[in-house]
Amino acid sequence: MYKYRIRGGTAIEGEIAVSGAKNAALPIMAASILSGSESVLHNCPAISDVEKMKEILSGLGCRVKEAGETIIIDSSSLASCKINGSLMKSMRSSIFLAGPLLSRCGHVEIHEPGGCNIGKRPIDIHLDAFKKMGALCAFSEGRIILKAEKLKGAEINMPFPSVGATENIIAAAACAEGTTIIRGAAKEPEIVDMQDFLNGCGADVRGAGTDIIMIEGRHSLNGTTHRIIPDRIEAGTFLTLAAITGGQLCLRGAKASHLRAYIDVLKRAGCTVLEYDGSIEIKGPGRLKNIGFVETSGYPGFPTDLQSFAMVLAVFSEGTSCIRENVFERRFAIAKELNKMGAEIEIKSRDAIIKGGRKLRGNFLEATDLRGGAAITLAAIGAPGESIVSGIQYIDRGYSRFEEKLTQVGADIQRIESENGERKD
Ligand code: UD1
Repeated sequence: MYKYRIRGGTAIEGEIAVSGAKNAALPIMAASILSGSESVLHNCPAISDVEKMKEILSGLGCRVKEAGETIIIDSSSLASCKINGSLMKSMRSSIFLAGPLLSRCGHVEIHEPGGCNIGKRPIDIHLDAFKKMGALCAFSEGRIILKAEKLKGAEINMPFPSVGATENIIAAAACAEGTTIIRGAAKEPEIVDMQDFLNGCGADVRGAGTDIIMIEGRHSLNGTTHRIIPDRIEAGTFLTLAAITGGQLCLRGAKASHLRAYIDVLKRAGCTVLEYDGSIEIKGPGRLKNIGFVETSGYPGFPTDLQSFAMVLAVFSEGTSCIRENVFERRFAIAKELNKMGAEIEIKSRDAIIKGGRKLRGNFLEATDLRGGAAITLAAIGAPGESIVSGIQYIDRGYSRFEEKLTQVGADIQRIESENGERKD
């Protein structure tokens, strides 16, 4: 196990290259098995969730190769439709394999997927959609078994715009018999990327990015070459770093149009944000203004994955801010860690009330989820004194070369080995 040792209060300045989006790479890697041939995916992030997806795909019989940030998946040798239970439990995104495997093999065996500890994460919307498309669903000894000789197109009305379910249904429908219409679909840019990938494979998917998506099933698909979109959440992470340190950063590869809701909040807090074609520049002010009221929702609303960063922004600002979490119920875990540093955050049900302007100092901090872990790391960089952040395996799930990128722009952060019996608090 590793942890970060951070000496906060250093000046932040420079340039960071944003990696490919985790939330686009994972469902696209899973969907690559639909074609039964080779797909080349450029700009894949070097993160542990991608490693796990590669391991799952290899376990199913696919040949997976990589060269730098390019991953090549040849699914012509797919030999199994049973996903390894412990890998499935270690990563929520393993659920993305259900639709493609069901479509390609007519049978899939999965376990309840795992993932970050941020609240209930049921998969009922995924399963109900597969059933509507003609699949039979059975539960046996902790496994979920889905069978459908040939999936059939269907009209699916989503009870909630679930990102994962939208992607799973698109993948399942790409080679189903007839037309599938998804109403109330999620509209995230990663879904548009999935559409672009599948259409490159010869699929007919239209409407991604809107709440109605139409898929004409194709008899078969071919492989393709695709470049994964930049990670808007990673970009939002580094924007926050510049904001709370009064620093200046250029984020190469970042796409401002994917970050509209967060850029609006940063500007409200007094940051100067300049948008270019292919990069974003930010300068944090001497003193951040409070962010007022922010609530999370599906795209293009304020993303739940940036909620922890908005909280850190509010902690470093003057005055009182309120953040309402509408997507995941247990996503305020970092409030306790930030309060240890001297922040004043009160949680009332789905609201976090943050009294900014308190004097912060380094402390022993614990990451318990991916985005929260990255957010407390930023707080430690922005606060004077030394901090130790444990639980950084959560951060490794979604950030490519995190401490390397942070060091490059002036942070004093080191990955060190945990010792047994060390003090945590
Ligand atoms: C994806 C993202 C994650 C992000 C989330 C919301 C990936 C790999 N992960 O996760 O980073 O935080 O979108 O933007 O893309 N729900 C149900 N039943 C279901 C599915 C979801 O009730 O069958 C509920 C969930 O409990 C949650 C909400 O819907 O409250 C949103 O979940 P969803 O959009 O499905 O998130 P994920 O796809 O898991």
